[in-house]
Amino acid sequence: MNQTLFNLNTIPPLTVSDEAALHAELAAFAEFGEETVIDAWHGEDLELPVYINEFWTAKQRQANPLHEISYRACFKPQLPRFFIDRLSAPGDIVLDPFMGRGTTPIEAALAQRIPWGGDVSPLAKRLVEPRLTPPSNDEVETRLKEIKKLCAAKSVLDAADPDLLVFYNANTLRDLVVLREYLIQRESDGQLDSIDAWIRLVATNRLTGHSTGFFSVYTLPPNQAVTADRQRKINAKREQTPPFRDVFGIIEKKSKQLMKGLRDEDFSALERARGEAQFHTTSADQAAAHFAAESVSLVVTSPPFLDVVQYAQDNWLRCWFNGIDASAVPMWNCRRVEDWTASMTAVMEQLKQLLKPNGWVAFEVGEVRNGRIKLENHVVRAGVEAGLEPVLILINQQDFTKTANCWGVSNNTSGTNTNRIVLFRKCASNRQLTER
Ligand SMILES: C[S@@+](CC[C@H](N)C(=O)[O-])C[C@H]1O[C@@H](n2cnc3c(N)ncnc32)[C@H](O)[C@@H]1O
Repeated sequence: MNQTLFNLNTIPPLTVSDEAALHAELAAFAEFGEETVIDAWHGEDLELPVYINEFWTAKQRQANPLHEISYRACFKPQLPRFFIDRLSAPGDIVLDPFMGRGTTPIEAALAQRIPWGGDVSPLAKRLVEPRLTPPSNDEVETRLKEIKKLCAAKSVLDAADPDLLVFYNANTLRDLVVLREYLIQRESDGQLDSIDAWIRLVATNRLTGHSTGFFSVYTLPPNQAVTADRQRKINAKREQTPPFRDVFGIIEKKSKQLMKGLRDEDFSALERARGEAQFHTTSADQAAAHFAAESVSLVVTSPPFLDVVQYAQDNWLRCWFNGIDASAVPMWNCRRVEDWTASMTAVMEQLKQLLKPNGWVAFEVGEVRNGRIKLENHVVRAGVEAGLEPVLILINQQDFTKTANCWGVSNNTSGTNTNRIVLFRKCASNRQLTER
């Protein structure tokens, strides 16, 4: 970064009123009992305020159960909600170009915003879109009965995959294979409706897990499918063989759980949102080819943190069930921070095109490599190089009192304990920051 950047102390914010109100609110925030610690971030010629507090908490602000789709490295719904409430209005477009299970778009829809989202994995769209059109319990039950009849016609599996039998009882696998073939066929015939899509979403989420609420024998959590070899070892160690699980009963139960928190106004909000919602399977550095320019009021997003999470490995069973070739998904998995920063700059350039003047980007990252790499430093740089204006850094820290020196090395070893968010804004004018 060899340009001369503006300094917050000397250059007034672009729209003083709302930005100043946000700074004031963050500085005075004490909703969960702690006062905000205000620090400063310095990078070359740039200084940014850093606000550290517990800004949202899972306990005190219950999220809607509609979010309860497990996904590796997803954030809590309270995170996008914090920014949606403050930095957008009903009817505004809210985008997440790395949407994963869709925490941002689902929360945006529930808050009466228009949800837009992208992800390079085709799984993401299948996890998000059906939740804008939840079917009734009766519709799910009737459809499952119809599919179940197809299973009855098939008494045993023709050729059971030995790798899958490590996870599933043969009869469970038969039901699962019939369901899978039914869904794939419906899709290729162009007949997959919102009830099928909902069932596919729920089943995808029940493939593996710890409890009897999943189709598999005891294994890792549902967002992390192990390899068949690893599962063989788990089975041997635990002296377990896959028990029969009622695929259709499990789907019905989880389906009800997902919908149980939906009030009438939520159904109306989802209905309104789906008319204008847009979800694309695309790499985030190509997003501008899919969405209309200068339309987005707010982006709330969280990219892959270098190579911390192996999304392709974790999702192999989900991809199998959905008929997706996991090896063909060009997932970012950067080892070098320089490559990661270049990718993020390319993403920010796309976001800049998509944002309305004065639109916002809340870009969440974690500490990686045991705190040795603070990705927010690189995010600031990527945003500035793309021509966005960094406004502040917000650190949501639930274990606040135990980590007094949280701006230095903290207790955060996996990079996901605290949320570290760089907030940017698109300048209303076309002036480049370097011209200031
Ligand atoms: C940290 S997760 C986002 C989780 C999301 N915030 C949620 O709550 O579910 C990062 C996501 O980036 C996606 N991804 C990886 N490479 C990508 C790329 N080049 N473009 C878009 N998405 C990508 C992964 O599939 C994963 O869903």
